[in-house]
Amino acid sequence: MSVVDDIEAKKDITRDELQYLLEGNEGEYLRQRAVAVRKAVYGQEVFIRGLIEFTNFCKNNCYYCGIRRDNRQASRYRLTAEEILDCCQNGYELGFRTFVLQGGEDEYFTDDRLCRIISSIKSNHPDCAITLSIGEKDRASYQRYFEAGAERYLLRHETADEAHYRKLHPREMSLQHRKECLYALKEIGYQVGAGFMTGSPGQTVDTLHEDLQFLRELKPHMVGIGPFIPQHDTPFGNEPGGTAAMTLTLLSIIRLLLPNVLLPATTALGTIDPVGREKGLRAGANVVMPNLSPKAVRKKYALYDAKICTGEEAAECIVCLKNRVKNAGYNIVCDRGDYRNRGIENV
Ligand code: 5AD
Ligand code: FES
Repeated sequence: MSVVDDIEAKKDITRDELQYLLEGNEGEYLRQRAVAVRKAVYGQEVFIRGLIEFTNFCKNNCYYCGIRRDNRQASRYRLTAEEILDCCQNGYELGFRTFVLQGGEDEYFTDDRLCRIISSIKSNHPDCAITLSIGEKDRASYQRYFEAGAERYLLRHETADEAHYRKLHPREMSLQHRKECLYALKEIGYQVGAGFMTGSPGQTVDTLHEDLQFLRELKPHMVGIGPFIPQHDTPFGNEPGGTAAMTLTLLSIIRLLLPNVLLPATTALGTIDPVGREKGLRAGANVVMPNLSPKAVRKKYALYDAKICTGEEAAECIVCLKNRVKNAGYNIVCDRGDYRNRGIENV
């Protein structure tokens, strides 16, 4: 039996099997099995999410991130509630039925402010899903956003290895708290997304194996992975970035371990390879997240260098995106794109 068949059957992977696949062995077969599993659950459909980057103020100082608080070069902005609602209206007209509100950890956006924004979006667009991606909060805050109408939450765990976590983040952050947040979100009833960067400084086969084991344990509804891309004004500005090949291999492995999972072909993957997102879809991904932020702020939400945010990345060019997805063999659907459980158990 091949290693790919083995991990598909047991929905688990050993450290040595991971190393073997990351070396490129059985690469084409891995990709084909991931595509077959994705097809059994989601057919040829690709879900779209409109990403609204509503603030790049952040109280944290992650070493890899361009909007970290110590980056004096970052030109900071916040969208007003009205601007956020306008982005949603624009997105709704373009066919989006899921909005992702993403931002740094910005204390200006108190729970009251956030809840008002969430309920306004819900009342304008009751048929849409709201996803939050705003970092670590108290359980009570997560509960309030949920009651206001947010149903999904993205919080990448970043790495499941303690020592690696400390290499990527200052002492004031902890892996344990990050995990507690993810479990709290799940308990409240959110559809939850975890994830990590590929090729981040200090990442090894062992830390990646821990990431995969953590994902098997958490059983998130979504997993966001994309290559680490250095941002020149951060402490990791001179570190090498992650590769598309490694990201694609991990997308396929994750599809086999968690067959039902919602798996985006990320902007970061599209940034390091002009056809990265298409390759992602052909490796088992089933979600794309075009940018709905106002054009004036897109460049300022600079987590990493050379982010794509013009042309076909932008939501205005949804027609181009539809064509690209079609050329990759898939179809964009304009619905909420909820998690599916087609009887294939996630372990
Ligand atoms: N390269 C790639 N991804 C990054 N992120 C933050 N900084 C970078 C970078 N330099 C990712 C993190 C975060 C998500 C919003 O963006 O994984 O969770
Ligand atoms: Fe903002 Fe990492 S720098 S959460």
